[in-house]
Amino acid sequence: MSNSPVAIVTGGAQGLGAAICIELLKKEYRVCIADIQESKAKQFADEQKHIYGKENIMAMSCDVTKESDYARIFDQTLATFHRVDVLVNNAGILTEVELRKMLDINLLGPIIGCQTALKYMGKSNGGNGGIVINTASVAGLLPFAEIPVYVASKHGVVGLTRSYGMPFHFERDEVTFVALCPSFINTILLETRNKTLNPEVDFSKRSNLLSPEYVAKGAMKLLEDKINGSTLVVSHDGYMYVGIQEEMKNVTL
Ligand SMILES: NC(=O)c1ccc[n+]([C@@H]2O[C@H](COP(=O)([O-])OP(=O)(O)OC[C@H]3O[C@@H](n4cnc5c(N)ncnc54)[C@H](O)[C@@H]3O)[C@@H](O)[C@H]2O)c1
Repeated sequence: MSNSPVAIVTGGAQGLGAAICIELLKKEYRVCIADIQESKAKQFADEQKHIYGKENIMAMSCDVTKESDYARIFDQTLATFHRVDVLVNNAGILTEVELRKMLDINLLGPIIGCQTALKYMGKSNGGNGGIVINTASVAGLLPFAEIPVYVASKHGVVGLTRSYGMPFHFERDEVTFVALCPSFINTILLETRNKTLNPEVDFSKRSNLLSPEYVAKGAMKLLEDKINGSTLVVSHDGYMYVGIQEEMKNVTL
């Protein structure tokens, strides 16, 4: 029986999540694809099973806004693969017209994900430690006029990652927290006509979109580097860690 490391990827059925699953499989991880689109997740899993082996992939329905769903995917993944090493909190949506839904998915989802990861992977709870990759965005570090609430949700994910990434948590649980902060990626999330404060804006029409595969390699870099609390910007300039503003380091708290 294989004892290779195991990753759970939320929002893994398509787009960036699917690309991250493929990069993980290439690195001989076993992968649980968890997505609210169950049939799409299963179809994607079936395709990948032909390439990477059916014993290395599972797919599950999961709504990241529900604590019980997170517990279920951890329980089921442990029952199938007997370990969990990595959680990628990747599910997300972009809409300024369904604010509560977006905040629930983009911010509450990763919050529940981090808490569940500590519960199952944290050494203080009998786990073996591990790593959580939160998919934030450059919108977690920069303002964008047309999507202020999406920006707020992603700034929240950066703050969440940096706070859980502090020694207080690591000393107790040995779980590393990192954030992936990509620029615009070629996925359906960017079809934003009538979904932002400027109804005409359609981010998918931008000419310089990143490929999901290129961004997924950033997730692999985070996995390799394991810099707790770090935020990796992925753009056409490459992969660049961005820290806390220098001026803030001199503020007396
Ligand atoms: N596309 C971009 O330009 C871009 C840039 C930076 C960051 N991101 C972030 O990357 C992540 C992935 O987005 P994407 O671009 O691949 O979009 P996508 O729409 O292709 O994929 C999002 C996935 O999340 C799933 N999902 C949605 N709600 C869910 C829920 N409640 N529970 C579980 N799964 C759910 C969807 O079914 C889908 O498979 C998101 O967090 C997004 O905010 C995207």
